[in-house]
Formats: sequence, structure tokens, C-alpha cells
Amino acid sequence: MKTLVAFYSLSGHTKKYAKTLAQTEGADLLELRPVKAVGKVVATLRIADTVKGKAWDIQPIGTDLRACDQLIICSPIWANNVPPYVNRLLELLPAGQSVRFKLISGSGKSGKCRERLAQAIAGKGCKLAGVEDIQEEKRRRN
Ligand SMILES: Cc1cc2nc3c(=O)[nH]c(=O)nc-3n(C[C@H](O)[C@H](O)[C@H](O)COP(=O)(O)O)c2cc1C
Repeated sequence: MKTLVAFYSLSGHTKKYAKTLAQTEGADLLELRPVKAVGKVVATLRIADTVKGKAWDIQPIGTDLRACDQLIICSPIWANNVPPYVNRLLELLPAGQSVRFKLISGSGKSGKCRERLAQAIAGKGCKLAGVEDIQEEKRRRN
């Protein structure tokens, strides 16, 4: 089974997690690279885009998503959503794609984000294989 781990990371936490996950799963790794990268300040100033579920351009992903059996998307949470760069990847998903999310939040409260992702995935005719909040999981284990 071919698995692809895709991730966007602003400050490195998600990148670190995604790299380890790809190694563990024996998966290919795809970094979503912004066309215009933002820092924390601009991401915060433009948070309305994130809240509205807008998409910001990413560089061509250079991978045929149809060729992977399972896509795992690792993403930070911004304002109870995924960042607009991740929304851009969601727009590219082929119908029928199986998608699993790993959310790297600050607080571990990902309820609203889960609902929004479920809607977005259903809207694309894709299959949601799971949404896991890594912080929440850590807290539950400790
Ligand atoms: C613009 C912005 C908005 C954020 N909003 C949330 C939020 O709503 N809930 C939350 O738990 N964490 C929030 N965070 C924290 C990040 O999700 C958290 O620090 C994450 O680990 C960052 O991942 P990264 O290092 O891969 O960028 C926000 C961070 C940024 C920059």
C-alpha cells in the first residue's frame, strides 16, 4: 500500500512530526511549500482567511495523488481550522481519495476543526479515514 504523508509547517513542529511519521510508515513525504510564505504575524493579521476556509497558493506538489492509496495530512491548527495552504491541497484531492489527518495544535482542542474537515472531505467525494489531535492523544496517555 502506497502512503503519502503531506504536511505544512510554519514553525517546525508539524514538520518534525511528519518526518518521523513518514519514516515509521515507510511513506513518501510531501512538504506543502507556499508561493508566498507568511510568518506568524502575517498569518495572524490575515486570520480571517483561515476562519473563512480560504485557500492560499502552494507550489506545484509534483506528485500524482491518484497513485497513493492513503494520504495522511499533517497540519497545525490555526483559529480552529487548518491553514489556507492545507485548504489548497484539499482542493486538489481526487474524488475517492482516502484521507487521514494528524493535527498538531497548541491547545489540543480540535473539535470545530474536525467538523470542518469532515465537511470539506465529504464535499470532495473523498473518504475520511480519521482525524487525530496529537496533543489530545498525548494528554490522554499521560
Ligand atoms: C496564526 C496561528 C493561529 C493559531 N491558532 C490556534 C488555534 O486556534 N488552536 C490551537 O490549538 N493552536 C493554534 N495555534 C498554534 C499552532 O497550532 C501550534 O503552535 C502548532 O504546533 C504549530 O505548528 P508548526 O510549528 O508546524 O507551525 C495557532 C498558531 C498560529 C501561528
